[in-house]
Amino acid sequence: MTLSGKKIILGITGGIAAYKAAQLLRLLKKSDCDVTVVMTSEAEKFITPLTLQALSGKPVLRDIFSGTESNGIIHISTASEADLVVIAPATANTIAKIRTGIADNLLTSIVLATSAKILLAPAMNRVMWENSATQENIEVLKKRGFLISGPATGFQACGDNGIGRMQEPQEIFDDIITILHQESVSQKSAGILSGRKVVITAGPTIEPLDPVRFISNRSSGKMGYAIAEAAVAMGAQTVLISGPVSLSPPAGVSFISVNTALEMHDAVMNSISPADVFIGTAAVADYRAATISPIKIKKSQENRELNISLIQNPDILSLVGHSEHRPSVVAGFAAETGNLEVYALKKLTEKNADIIFGNDVSDQSIGFNSDQNEITVFTKNKKAVSLPRSSKKELGVAVLQFIAEMLT
Ligand code: C5P
Repeated sequence: MTLSGKKIILGITGGIAAYKAAQLLRLLKKSDCDVTVVMTSEAEKFITPLTLQALSGKPVLRDIFSGTESNGIIHISTASEADLVVIAPATANTIAKIRTGIADNLLTSIVLATSAKILLAPAMNRVMWENSATQENIEVLKKRGFLISGPATGFQACGDNGIGRMQEPQEIFDDIITILHQESVSQKSAGILSGRKVVITAGPTIEPLDPVRFISNRSSGKMGYAIAEAAVAMGAQTVLISGPVSLSPPAGVSFISVNTALEMHDAVMNSISPADVFIGTAAVADYRAATISPIKIKKSQENRELNISLIQNPDILSLVGHSEHRPSVVAGFAAETGNLEVYALKKLTEKNADIIFGNDVSDQSIGFNSDQNEITVFTKNKKAVSLPRSSKKELGVAVLQFIAEMLT
């Protein structure tokens, strides 16, 4: 999705991570966002307003009484125009003020006066983060609809090591894209899945051979996570059952983490009675080791060749398609390196699915690890429909719009 022209307020409070806000500002400006920087006086001790003014191309707002716009009510005019307010870094002090509704500076006044979504990127010492006051503040703010990015774990400026570091600017930027994308989906397809339960599998499964080794595949989980994110934005009760991936579960999903195909199978069967939609995007390992060695398999001079006996895993999509608790719409994916139509139609019949979304993974620019995909939709007795190449996030929306039409 394009961020061009999006009005973002970047709030910076007084923590050592304030210097990283400059990097976040660069990423937003590169995407053509219209960014207004608002600093607290404590933030100015860590980074100069001049740096941020040069990067944003606009004066930095610092003082609630300095505005000349809108009859001097600068916090109201700034707050009402924003598409999103991002506070990075957000100190424990500012978080506590926001929780209680204190508006003692321009930034906290804007927070109180805006109806835009607010994303906080907390940054503080480990003990301050773990303090029950901070934890309670965060929980209350989450319940009020505030979005939280991080914090991350690692070395801290004070010499400690633990949770409390601000997320990296790129990660905060990715969260901003996700939030704005969800907003635009909500505007376009608001509530089209409300009252519906959607169950999605994503990522690979891993099948252990011994305590340290496993068989798996290259699935990144990006397509399934994008569909789950779109489902939440469209109002569905969304269950995401995922194998190990390096993505964070989208906000608002019921997340079930699994490793093996058998675990994924059990989680799916528990989740589909009842459900309205099942979408299998996971790259489930077709086979698992017949026996898992309880100790590490060692190489030896005699053992020049090693044979591992494999047995077939359950086909989850097919079992859902043939289940007595079959959801109204059952959809799967076909990642093929050729003969897409033949294989997709075969899967439709054999797995008793309603839709197969096919993609050609021989093209390196789409498919497994890419952010882009190109999908052809196969349904029973209908002509195949091609969805144009676009981001997995956009295709996630298109996939669900297709499914929502089948539900009506
Ligand atoms: O049979 P194939 O693996 O090509 O089919 C792909 C579709 O079937 C995907 O939707 C995938 O999530 C699903 N599948 C499954 N369980 C398996 C194998 C595939 O749910 N064991």
